[in-house]
Amino acid sequence: MQKKVSMKKSILIISSIALFFACKQTSKNETKPTHNIPVVTHSSQMVDDIQVNTIQIGGDSTKEKNNFQASYPQTKHEFINAIEKQDALKLQQEFEEEIKKVTKDAVAGVTFGKHFEVLENSKNLIGFLNETYRSFGNTFSDEYQTNYYDVTNKKLLTINNLFTSEKAFSTFASKITLATKETLKKIIEKDASLTQTDKQNMLNSLVEQINNGTAAAVKNYNAVVFKPEVVEVIFNKYQVAPGSMGSIKVQIASKDITELLKEEYQTLFRLEKKPEEVKNLPKKETTTTQIPTSDVNCDEVPCVALTFDDGPSVHTNRLLDILKEEEVKATFFVLGKSSKVQPNTILRQQKEGHVVANHSWNHKDLRKLSTNEVVEQINNTNQAIEEVTNTKVKYLRPPYGAFNTEIKSVSKMPIILWTIDPLDWKDRNAETVAERMMKAKANGIILAHDIHKSTVDAVPNVIKTLKEKGFYFVSLDELYAGKKLENGKVYNSRKTN
Ligand code: NI
Repeated sequence: MQKKVSMKKSILIISSIALFFACKQTSKNETKPTHNIPVVTHSSQMVDDIQVNTIQIGGDSTKEKNNFQASYPQTKHEFINAIEKQDALKLQQEFEEEIKKVTKDAVAGVTFGKHFEVLENSKNLIGFLNETYRSFGNTFSDEYQTNYYDVTNKKLLTINNLFTSEKAFSTFASKITLATKETLKKIIEKDASLTQTDKQNMLNSLVEQINNGTAAAVKNYNAVVFKPEVVEVIFNKYQVAPGSMGSIKVQIASKDITELLKEEYQTLFRLEKKPEEVKNLPKKETTTTQIPTSDVNCDEVPCVALTFDDGPSVHTNRLLDILKEEEVKATFFVLGKSSKVQPNTILRQQKEGHVVANHSWNHKDLRKLSTNEVVEQINNTNQAIEEVTNTKVKYLRPPYGAFNTEIKSVSKMPIILWTIDPLDWKDRNAETVAERMMKAKANGIILAHDIHKSTVDAVPNVIKTLKEKGFYFVSLDELYAGKKLENGKVYNSRKTN
C-alpha cells in the first residue's frame, strides 16, 4: 500500500547530498507528488509510487543460451499498467518466436531485454522512456520509445497531443530537422577515414532520409525526452542515418519550444536536476576492497549469505518485511535502472542493514559491450545507488555471472558469484525453490531473485530451516568481514584464496 504522507515543499540534506523532492497537499484523502521523478525521502517507510515488474526467462547463469528480461512499470493506474505490460508481453512473444530458430549447435543465442526510466510522474502526466535491446550474436541493437500518459483523461498520448496545435508540432519538427542535419554533420566531420569530398557526398545523400525521418509525423517521434535545459529526440537505427551509425540523439534547447507545449503538460520542463556532485564520491584507485569487521564471526559459526539479484521490484518490499521480521541481513544486487525507479526501496534496504550491490545498469551481457559501455554500466549503477545510500558500493555481480579478462580489469570491484543456484526463474514454485536453497553449506552464497513472487514466498521457509540447522544469515559485508578482497577477482563463497 502507498503510505500517505503529506508535506510542504522542502529540501532535505542527507550528508553532503541534497536530495530534492516536493510534495503538495491535494485532496483530504489523497496526496500525490506534484513533481516528476521518484520521490526520495529520509523516511524508510516511504513506498515508491512506481515499481518494477519483471518477466524473466533464462536465468542468471551462462548455462542458458537464450535470455529474456523485460521490466515494465506498475503504477496506481490500471490503464497504464495494462498498456505497459502488453508491450512487454509483445516482446516476449517475439523472443519466443526467435528462439525457435536457434538450433542446438548454434554458437550464439538470443538475448532480448526491456527496461524503463521514469521521465515524469506528476498529477496530470506520467511518462516513461522504454529501452528495448536485442542481441542475436555479439552486439546489441537498442530501440527507444517514450510513452506519455494523460492521467486525468486516462489515455496514452501521441507526441502531437503534447503540442498546442498541429502547427506547433510542425514547428517543433522543423527545428528538429535542422538540428538533426547539424548533429549528423558533426558526427561525419569527425570520421577521419573519409575525405572532405566523401563527407560532403555522404551528407548530401542523407538529406532526403533526414527530411523524411524527421517530418511532423507521429511515427517519426517515438522517443522524445523533455529536460529542463534540452529536449532530446532519439531516432532509432536507420531512421535518419545509415544503420552503422546506430540510434541518433538530437537535442534542441527547451526554451525554444516551451510555448509550443500545452499548458497542462508544461510540467515536463520542470524535471528535477540530477545531483551532479555525487558523481565524485571519493574514488580512490585501489587494487583491493577492505571489508570492515563485524559482530558475526564466520570463522566460528556457520554462515550463509542470501543474495537477491535483478531488483528492486514490486516484490522487494514484502521480502524486506520478511527479512526484518526474521532479523536476517541479506545482499541485494540491484539494477541501476530499477534503482532509479524505486529509490525508496534501495534506501530501505540500506537502512535496514542489508548490503546494496551492483548488478549492472540494465542486465546486458557485459561481454557483448565495448569497454566504455562496460565502465558506464558499472559506474552509472554505483552512482544511482550511492546517490541514495551515500555509501560506497563494494561488490559487483555481472549479469549471467558473465565476465572476461577485460571486464575484470575495468570493474575495479571484487566480483561475487554464488555457491547455490536454485533456478528460481525456471521453477516458480516456492517449495521447490526453498528445498534447493536449503542445501546451502557453511560459508556459501545463495543466488535468488527478488523479481519473482515464488522466490519471496520461499524465503520464510528457507530461513526457518537453515536457522534450525544452526546457520547464521549474513550480508556479504559480514561474510567477508575483516578480509581484503582483490578488485577484479572472482569469489563464489567466503573462501578468498
Ligand atoms: Ni541477473
